[in-house]
Amino acid sequence: MSNTQVLFKSAPTEMPTPENFEIAEKPMPEPGDGEFLLKNLYLSLDPYQRMLMGGGWTYSPNVLKPGDLMVGRVIGEVIETNNPDYPVGTHVVGRLGWQTHVVSDGSNLDFVIEPKDGVPLSAYLGACGSTGTTAWVGLKITGKPKPGETVLVSAAAGSVGSTVGQLAKAWGCKAVGIAGGPEKCKLVTDEFGFDACVDYKAPDLADQIKTAAPDGVDIYFDNVGGEVLEAALSNMNRLGRIPVCGVLSAYNEAGEHYGVKNLHLFFDKSLMMEGFVLSAHKDVWPDARAEIEDLIASGKLAFKETIAGGIENAPAAFIGMLEGKNVGKQLVKLA
Ligand SMILES: NC(=O)c1ccc[n+]([C@@H]2O[C@H](COP(=O)([O-])OP(=O)(O)OC[C@H]3O[C@@H](n4cnc5c(N)ncnc54)[C@H](OP(=O)(O)O)[C@@H]3O)[C@@H](O)[C@H]2O)c1
Repeated sequence: MSNTQVLFKSAPTEMPTPENFEIAEKPMPEPGDGEFLLKNLYLSLDPYQRMLMGGGWTYSPNVLKPGDLMVGRVIGEVIETNNPDYPVGTHVVGRLGWQTHVVSDGSNLDFVIEPKDGVPLSAYLGACGSTGTTAWVGLKITGKPKPGETVLVSAAAGSVGSTVGQLAKAWGCKAVGIAGGPEKCKLVTDEFGFDACVDYKAPDLADQIKTAAPDGVDIYFDNVGGEVLEAALSNMNRLGRIPVCGVLSAYNEAGEHYGVKNLHLFFDKSLMMEGFVLSAHKDVWPDARAEIEDLIASGKLAFKETIAGGIENAPAAFIGMLEGKNVGKQLVKLA
């Protein structure tokens, strides 16, 4: 038996293609003293991985080099162990790469999964994992929502966005989504329970937002930047907050990005905009996870997954996610 990996081969120009990846068969790793062997069950595909590939915009200095293992979180199951803290059958989450097997000593893991009734294992890469925690951190810590306020979120049918809107509702706010196309907008209202959702691919986004949020927007949770940010800004209420979670509109752009034209509104309306990264808030990850687990287990938070099968299909699923083919969390089932 071998360990199948997906390696980075070359930097894309704009949207990645399958040629930017390489599938490699490597010898099965063997656990040494204090180590254990994981069989990876699920792989998480995330927009930040596009930034690590280069040839586009990135905030990260850690751009991949040809031959490097693609970076990504997995859920792994311990199948062989020399570490009593990690018995066979333990499930863990860690950023251990696009591969079917890996050896760990526990130091490079995010957390050990403690199974909870009503919460499936795969949710620990999405709603109960990094994307749900990102939604919780950005909305609660940066957005500081108050009951009765209106929260607007872009990429609302995706993993972070769908959780943001549902947390907003759970915390007594009104939730308005922005998503690509009428089908996704319907899903955002019908399945995720948002009060309204508008289509950024249709004309007059600023007017659509005004109709969907007639009392104005108190918090705009920004996942995309660019023209969508501009339309959101024009609908902000005085003292509004804008947690900046990501810039999806720019990840495939190597050149200059769209210049937002209405920045004067920050002064006019005393707005606050603040970027955040999940890794800076490790202290609250367990709190976020526990609250989201409870909401899922009690049927108050819905999550969707788009699951590709087999590690060899990870590049195509990754490209599909960047093209918006996913609903909710994009995963690959590895075993
Ligand atoms: N700050 C942090 O620590 C942190 C951590 C995790 C994730 N993030 C960020 O959170 C955001 C959402 O990530 P996710 O994992 O939940 O992905 P996701 O929303 O599940 O998937 C990506 C979605 O982005 C939308 N999209 C793609 N290109 C777009 C564009 N040009 N304009 C508008 N929307 C576009 C597509 O939906 P449509 O069909 O609706 O276009 C696609 O389904 C990303 O910006 C990501 O980088 C940040």
